[in-house]
Amino acid sequence: IFQGELSQTTLETEVISKSKNKKLISWSITPLILGEKEIEAVVLVGVDITERRKAEMNLIRERDFISTILHTVDVLIFSLNHEGKIIRANKTVEKVLGYKLNELEGKYIGELLDKEERDDIKKILSELKSKREILVHENHILTRKGEKKLIVFHSNAVKSKSGEIILFTGHDVTERRKTENRLREMQRLEAVGKLAGGVAHDFNNILTAIISSVEAILPTVSSNKPLYRNLKEIKTVAERGASLTRQLLAFSRKQITRPEILNLNTVIKEMTKMLKRIIGENIELTLNLDRNLRWIKADRSQIEEVIMNLVVNARDAMPRGGKLIIQTRNIISTQEIYNFIGEKPHKKYILLSITDTGIGMTKEIISHIYEPFFTTKRKGTGLGLSTVYGIVKQNKGYIAVKSAPTQGTTFYIFLPALSKKEREKIKKKEISHKIETYKKAKAIHLRKEITILLVEDEAPVRRAIKKILQLYKFNVLEAKNPNEAIKIAQKYKHTITLLLTDVIMPGMSGSDLFNRLVHIIPNLKVLYMSGYTDNVIAHDGILKEGIPFINKPFTSEELLSKIKEVLQEE
Ligand SMILES: Nc1ncnc2c1ncn2[C@@H]1O[C@H](COP(=O)(O)OP(=O)(O)OP(=O)(O)O)[C@@H](O)[C@H]1O
Ligand SMILES: [Mg+2]
Repeated sequence: IFQGELSQTTLETEVISKSKNKKLISWSITPLILGEKEIEAVVLVGVDITERRKAEMNLIRERDFISTILHTVDVLIFSLNHEGKIIRANKTVEKVLGYKLNELEGKYIGELLDKEERDDIKKILSELKSKREILVHENHILTRKGEKKLIVFHSNAVKSKSGEIILFTGHDVTERRKTENRLREMQRLEAVGKLAGGVAHDFNNILTAIISSVEAILPTVSSNKPLYRNLKEIKTVAERGASLTRQLLAFSRKQITRPEILNLNTVIKEMTKMLKRIIGENIELTLNLDRNLRWIKADRSQIEEVIMNLVVNARDAMPRGGKLIIQTRNIISTQEIYNFIGEKPHKKYILLSITDTGIGMTKEIISHIYEPFFTTKRKGTGLGLSTVYGIVKQNKGYIAVKSAPTQGTTFYIFLPALSKKEREKIKKKEISHKIETYKKAKAIHLRKEITILLVEDEAPVRRAIKKILQLYKFNVLEAKNPNEAIKIAQKYKHTITLLLTDVIMPGMSGSDLFNRLVHIIPNLKVLYMSGYTDNVIAHDGILKEGIPFINKPFTSEELLSKIKEVLQEE
């Protein structure tokens, strides 16, 4: 016990009491010395510390428990003095912000904030001093790497034994807020799209009637009369209107598409000549195309429209010249898409990016660019990017933009890619379809007399189409609704060759009507017309394979060539 030192020492031992209870005793042991180094006796003074030790252990356990919670909860905790200087922070702060805890001690909390928000903190600190309540505030904190994080803070002044401290507890809502904003933006565009689509639909019918009527009169007026020129003017203007409504339909994803297997590189290469003409000589075009680019399935003219719109915008952004880079590449990791969009898709994707070195955009402008009719240009219609957005969405793709004033702009478009297997399967199907069409085409004999049953519920549209058809020397039987069409078909079943019908009519859809009529006229051909996609013939705007279809409004030439196409396939 004394280890050579003959002086007082202490010791803790357990003893067992008579009633078999363990007791922890703290001993103080004092030697009584006689002469030189001779112990005559030892005085033991024992104190029962069982209870005290228990209380101490509880305290330690309690402290560990609290400290574990404090450092592992998903909440940022700062304790501050009255000047707003950090006394302590928890490990979550370290994790989210990248600072070591000792770096933070003594730092003014305002220094961590985005510059513009530093005054906010001053106000909050003084308010906390005067009012005894919890304040909720949102602030952007800069991480050690300079990233901005959006934190929702609850702060209050609390009394503790060591005086009053200010407690800031915060949640990192950066990601959540991004997702919410993205969703809200999508919903907003969805609503605008619905509205635009509805308007475009009605407009299409009106324009079809105008164009067709004018076309029907034109051949009866001699071309040197002023009336002829006026009619031509009406036609031109109406056609411009038609192309506008087509863009609106694209935005609202109601455009009918004909997807095919495409190599985006080929599409771009084939457009290069035209693109160069558009951008002029002061803009240098660079193509950066991935040779092993995966294939996509999309409507070629839609993809061309996307590229055109983005290139024209890039040109407009560089009035004094600059660089335009079109890049394609495979997306290897979905994380890349996540970083842009905040969503992780399952499929493989390719990326088309178009970069310019132009004027760039402010945040405010960026937040509106996909809205129809939003434009900052004197002569812009503001439909370019709305169309692009609609097309990308219709093709299950994603679009993102990076831009800042004077820093140029890059648009990123992610499109789902085909796997090799998918590509081969589609190719095989396409080839066998072509062979079949060819075989059928060989067996045809075009009849001289062709009678068309025209079904359209809107009278002006019906009259106008009838006039066109008669112009081309077709016999026309007209019906204003499906029931009437069925009656006429029964009467003329030996003469009718083709059913030309609207898709959406009251009572019965165009395709239901066709299904009824083929029972009466087994060889009946059909051509559908509509300005609106509908699940009746198209799912999600993608045309079911092999369904003959013409978009309203159409010109007389377009109608004739479609009719010929349908009759050829007999
Ligand atoms: N590459 C770009 N650089 C700078 N601003 C752009 C760029 N692309 C689009 N914008 C901005 O977005 C707005 C909307 O573009 P959008 O293509 O939809 O319409 P627009 O070009 O103004 O008109 P439209 O394409 O119908 O002729 C533009 O007016 C412009 O302010
Ligand atoms: Mg544009």
